Amino acid sequence: GAPVTVDITPLEAGQRLVREWRGQPIWIVRRTEAILEALPTLDDHLRDPMSENPDQQPEYVLEEFRELRSIKREVSVLVGLCTHLGCSPEMKAEIRPEPFDTAWKGGYFCPCHKSKFDMAGRVYDGVPAPTNLLVPPHFYADDNTIVIG
Ligand code: FES
Repeated sequence: GAPVTVDITPLEAGQRLVREWRGQPIWIVRRTEAILEALPTLDDHLRDPMSENPDQQPEYVLEEFRELRSIKREVSVLVGLCTHLGCSPEMKAEIRPEPFDTAWKGGYFCPCHKSKFDMAGRVYDGVPAPTNLLVPPHFYADDNTIVIG
């Protein structure tokens, strides 16, 4: 498939753009400051907090903000498919733990078998998803232009 170019200028904090690349949904999310501050506090709940499984993302997305899994601090780019059996997780971007457990700071919830991921796509607590959400290959053509693929 051809690369997909995305203008993120209109994307505001807490919002998501959805695009398609190679038949897969690609999520581009501008995370809020509250979310960014919460992410480094979750390690005890995460299966792979430092994303050491190399199949989950290109190595370069870990270089600057390893726990955030992103090239740009606030902007997360993920394949929007659960790593368990491929359902589409729902975004719960706000920090509002109910009706989930009190430690979860929001993220992505898969309705099929209740896997949870944080706002970096890291798999959270004892749920069936085996790995973090995938980060597709991508780069910034300029400050507000992402090229997926
Ligand atoms: Fe998401 Fe099973 S497909 S938890």
